[in-house]
Amino acid sequence: MGTHSKRLPAARAADIAPFHVMEVLARAKALERAGRHIIHMEVGEPDFHSPGPVLQAGQVALRNGQTHYTPAVGLGELREAIAAFYQHRYGVAVPPERVVVTPGAAGALQLAVAALVDPGDNVVLTDPGYPCNRHLVSLLGGRPINVPVGPDSGYQLTPQLLERFATSETAAVLIASPSNPTGTMVSEEQLRRLVADVPALGGHLIVDEIYHGLVYEGNYTTALDLSDDLFVINSFSKYFGMTGWRLGWLVAPESHLRCVEKLAQNLFIAPSTIAQHAALAAFLPETLALLEERRQAFRERRDFLLPALERLGFAVPVVPQGAFYIYADCSRFTSDSRSFALRLLEDAGVALTPGVDFGSYRAAQHVRFAYTTALTELEEGVARLKRFLGQ
Ligand SMILES: Cc1ncc(COP(=O)(O)O)c(C=O)c1O
Repeated sequence: MGTHSKRLPAARAADIAPFHVMEVLARAKALERAGRHIIHMEVGEPDFHSPGPVLQAGQVALRNGQTHYTPAVGLGELREAIAAFYQHRYGVAVPPERVVVTPGAAGALQLAVAALVDPGDNVVLTDPGYPCNRHLVSLLGGRPINVPVGPDSGYQLTPQLLERFATSETAAVLIASPSNPTGTMVSEEQLRRLVADVPALGGHLIVDEIYHGLVYEGNYTTALDLSDDLFVINSFSKYFGMTGWRLGWLVAPESHLRCVEKLAQNLFIAPSTIAQHAALAAFLPETLALLEERRQAFRERRDFLLPALERLGFAVPVVPQGAFYIYADCSRFTSDSRSFALRLLEDAGVALTPGVDFGSYRAAQHVRFAYTTALTELEEGVARLKRFLGQ
């Protein structure tokens, strides 16, 4: 036995960072139990319930006893429906065999990173960025290279940054467009260059498109339009409003399909059967029409919240084109966004996510607002912020 006591958690588990937003959420819930009304702008999931046709399809699946395992890579019918969606939405032909259905985008990220990263390899990611990714890389014995990104690059990785930070040990480069927490996108031109540059450096590009569908301006396409030699991640969680069903997918290159399948068998056996049957209804025309209405509602919220925050003195130098987040510079008010968020919750009943959840680069000067609540709540939130800031 080594020096590490076997009665303690493994170092990889002990070292993993918690979600600070959970601290905010727990305190918000406690205040609500004590009778306070809290404005929730910390939550990273749509407030809308799953669309009606999805709920009905889930109920039918249950009634029909669809409670057994499916193949590890998912129901053939759903893989075909996802492939057809790429054709319908982007005009891109994706063979259903390359679509692997997973337990959320989280499951897809696990498969991609497990398929690509050897111990000692590194993965290039953005700071700020979705925190689970860098934790996952470390869990698997890889090294995350957290590239500080700011307004000058739209909070996204650029070919220039890639050249500066990638090394001969870079196994993968992971980008998310639109991004959590900034809502900003990689332009098609930049994406085109990353698609060419990452393989040239000897690595694989992973593109997280989980916030596709929730884009409010500009045209955009899937990275699959540009190359077959990359990994694309997506999910039923955000645009389709199915967070709790735990269902997403990975589109993998032909060369890696067999190893992704073996990993899926071993890690998950299969994604949830009931969720997969429910998700078949996610692509029905009536569901897509409802999702379009919801997209418009999110856009309306963004268009209210963004200028309102700027008027209060928060800086948002790059317009968030998508997702449901605004990553705001709060350095006019504080140099410690975590205690700012906790004080704001205590004094004004407004819950936000502190920047520290997304990395360390200028994290103490930022907070994330999620517009995953009704417009009237956002209006009340802004009024409370104004009072809290003494304006
Ligand atoms: C950028 C990004 N990727 C992946 C996920 C994981 O989503 P899920 O596993 O619910 O599909 C999230 C969730 O917030 C996210 O923001």
